[in-house]
Amino acid sequence: MSTSSLLRILVLSAAALSPLAHAITPAEQLSGYAAQAGAPAQPARGQQLFTVRHGKAWSCASCHAAVPTVEGKHASTGKVIAPLAPAFNAKGFGDAAKTEKWFRRNCNDVMGRECSAAEKADVLAWLLTLQR
Ligand code: HEC
Repeated sequence: MSTSSLLRILVLSAAALSPLAHAITPAEQLSGYAAQAGAPAQPARGQQLFTVRHGKAWSCASCHAAVPTVEGKHASTGKVIAPLAPAFNAKGFGDAAKTEKWFRRNCNDVMGRECSAAEKADVLAWLLTLQR
């Protein structure tokens, strides 16, 4: 196959896939993280990570509430945060880039490092156990 036809195929498949980049379900994001981690998620471990402090001023619960089925409140700005549990927030975990951005920022604030794929899977698996 020539380089130019290979390029055409790449461009066409990127175009075909692009709508997916912004439409993903929480369950799909969970399978993605679990696949990256190479192990099934453990919701109890996710709840633990979320609720305790990791040597810094804030836990995840400081902004999102300990059981994030309700609105949270930003620990420093006071800004209202939509419920993190997807069953209580129709827009929650529907955009992989947004989810990644906040995991990166918030894990750094709370743990001083990024969360691993396994940790993200654990937290999201726990959030998905919170149902109406
Ligand atoms: C200092 C306040 C604060 C702390 C602490 C915090 N978050 Fe957040 N988090 C936010 C805000 C603000 C948003 C964006 C909410 C929005 O735009 O709806 C957010 C969004 C998120 C999202 C994106 C959800 C989605 O719909 O894709 C995830 C995931 C998340 N936080 C996880 C965590 C985890 C895990 C921790 C603990 C390691 C944590 N957060 C700690 C403030 C915080």
